[in-house]
Amino acid sequence: MDAPGNTAQQNQETDEVTTWTGQEVASGYSAIDGSTDRLLGYPFVFRSLGLADGHHHGGTLLDFGSGPGRVADEAARRFGLTVLAADISQAMLETSQQRGNRMLRHHLIVDDTVEELPDGCADLAMCNFVLVCVRQRERLLRMFAEVHRLLRPGGRFTVLNPDHSRVGVRFDCFRLGAPGTVYEAGDPLHVRLKRTDGTWLEIVDTYWPGEVYGELLAEAGFRDIARTAPLLDDALGARLITEETFRDTGKWTAERTMAPFVLFTGTR
Ligand SMILES: C[S@@+](CC[C@H](N)C(=O)[O-])C[C@H]1O[C@@H](n2cnc3c(N)ncnc32)[C@H](O)[C@@H]1O
Repeated sequence: MDAPGNTAQQNQETDEVTTWTGQEVASGYSAIDGSTDRLLGYPFVFRSLGLADGHHHGGTLLDFGSGPGRVADEAARRFGLTVLAADISQAMLETSQQRGNRMLRHHLIVDDTVEELPDGCADLAMCNFVLVCVRQRERLLRMFAEVHRLLRPGGRFTVLNPDHSRVGVRFDCFRLGAPGTVYEAGDPLHVRLKRTDGTWLEIVDTYWPGEVYGELLAEAGFRDIARTAPLLDDALGARLITEETFRDTGKWTAERTMAPFVLFTGTR
């Protein structure tokens, strides 16, 4: 099974979806550049959840599939939230714990359930770049059902994923699949991710057409489901880009006309 840290050549030889449970993966993921994610992904998750800078929101945010905890940590610091950082990987949770942020509470997900957490314990929930790690549709539904159980009535849930209709497009920090290849739901999808040192890491995700996320949210019981797919101009318009970041995006091309990510938000 491929994992961040392996060479591109090793990864090209297999179609097995990358597993994320080892220590090597947890460390490898921290070396990912994520420029596009930081500009057109996470800020729009926060916005979809109604979180705004300068407001101490308080309350509790569930981060389902929190990985190394970078985004959980940012949400806790920026918005004064307690974050329930939940993941299937003990190694990821340990990496996250090393941040030393006492606003983060770490939980291991076992069989798609966080057994020790009671119904309705979270005010908000997010699930960022996790669904592409999962091969079976029924498992995605179980995960959404668990988020539904953990959210209080009226709580919002945002799901962020790469838009898999962008196969072959070269975004600043990633490329999905092989240009010209046609994929079907559940197929393995080779993905290249840029590392901070400029080299590329190959992993294998699962291909999911965007509408699957909306369907699954509805099946799990969420209502008022909305879809957004931000472009670079949207980030500018929403003043999510600082002067410094704006200079960095000068060479971006694809992100101006093709949204790299798709976000779905539903209400419990
Ligand atoms: C690509 S990382 C994203 C981490 C984090 N959400 C972020 O945006 O930085 C995917 C994470 O999802 C976790 N994961 C994979 N399958 C999962 C599942 N079935 N349920 C919950 N988490 C899962 C992995 O362990 C990994 O930490």
